[in-house]
Amino acid sequence: MFGRIVGEEIAEGRTLMLSGLCLCGASSEASRLGAGRLGVGPQKVELYAVLFDLMVEGPEGEQHPELARHPRWAERRRKRCPGTAAATHPQEWFTTMPHPADWAMLPAMTTFAFSSSAAPLTNLIDLGGKTAIVTGGAMGIGRGIAERLHEAGASVVIADLDPTAAEAVASSLNERRENSALWTETDVGNADGVAAMVAAAIDGFGGVDILVNNAGIYPFMTFREMDVTLFERVLRVNLVGVFLCMKAAAERMIVQGHGGKIINVTSVDALHPSMVGLAHYDASKHGAWGLTKNVALELSEHGISVNAIAPGAVATPGTGVASVQDAVDETVARIPMHRMADPDEMGRVALFLASDLASYMTGSQVVADGGMLLR
Ligand SMILES: NC(=O)c1ccc[n+]([C@@H]2O[C@H](COP(=O)([O-])OP(=O)(O)OC[C@H]3O[C@@H](n4cnc5c(N)ncnc54)[C@H](O)[C@@H]3O)[C@@H](O)[C@H]2O)c1
Repeated sequence: MFGRIVGEEIAEGRTLMLSGLCLCGASSEASRLGAGRLGVGPQKVELYAVLFDLMVEGPEGEQHPELARHPRWAERRRKRCPGTAAATHPQEWFTTMPHPADWAMLPAMTTFAFSSSAAPLTNLIDLGGKTAIVTGGAMGIGRGIAERLHEAGASVVIADLDPTAAEAVASSLNERRENSALWTETDVGNADGVAAMVAAAIDGFGGVDILVNNAGIYPFMTFREMDVTLFERVLRVNLVGVFLCMKAAAERMIVQGHGGKIINVTSVDALHPSMVGLAHYDASKHGAWGLTKNVALELSEHGISVNAIAPGAVATPGTGVASVQDAVDETVARIPMHRMADPDEMGRVALFLASDLASYMTGSQVVADGGMLLR
């Protein structure tokens, strides 16, 4: 409710009146810290700073009554202005608190202010200025995700084992918007390759804001026929690959200081086995889901959210191969929505998780399975 009050004040253009007090330029250390802790891009920091002004001193020049009651504010005022009962003028107040670490207070006061519905929908899904890496983005679900993130304004790195297909996707995205996509030949199970993938994103677009761990394999084999080599291969791509990519991208996101979004494409098999022949796969996907939750816990303080998408059956080149057709037919027969998903339907879920629509989500797994798990 407080956020709505603040939002209305901004909508009425009162920010202009206060903009002179905004000391938080997008490049300053304070902005970087504030943005990092809030998990927002630098372009939004100025708005937060203006909000902060509004909270320090309301548009009518009085301290905002709700903020005055906020225990953190009281604590802050005691620390910075010992013995001062009343609020000081914001300008004066700011000059007494030049240290960026002080901005640690900002999230506590603005996070709840921003939990309102004040932001326009188009802003919430705008990924302009952000860079997304999509592993396995050359086809199937990865391509569907890359296309939606790109459409929302992100620059996209297509990282895939298949260089020909990756290049084709990148050039089709560049035709839609110049210099908005690049590709790398990457094996997600190889640490050096993953480091090169992140370096390419930094060289090409200046950083990494969104990572989608989509690359995965599902070579059907019964448990009794499966040897340890195949088991380890599936684990390396589907689980170790997610680990390596998350580590490399998260380190970069932390250095950048303005948070980030990680989305791991798991499967309904992360929750429940869909069929015989996927023991290795189910082990890897259960692992990826566990990894998602624990890393979400750890990276939250850096403003990095980590969520998962659990698709059901999706029509992709991988599920289109003749050897898995029987299994696919059998699965579709069990889907309450009576059809497989289109990769774009996973792209839409990924866009939701990559955007501010999902601003309060981390450690969650969105199941998009046409109802498959209901049976
Ligand atoms: N299609 C489905 O029904 C379905 C269901 C649930 C989960 N998933 C998951 O979705 C993801 C994508 O599946 P899909 O059906 O689109 O697959 P797909 O086989 O159609 O495409 C996978 C892409 O990943 C790439 N790739 C494979 N191994 C790689 C590696 N080591 N490094 C980098 N890239 C690699 C391939 O070259 C390909 O471009 C996988 O993680 C899969 O487990 C798919």
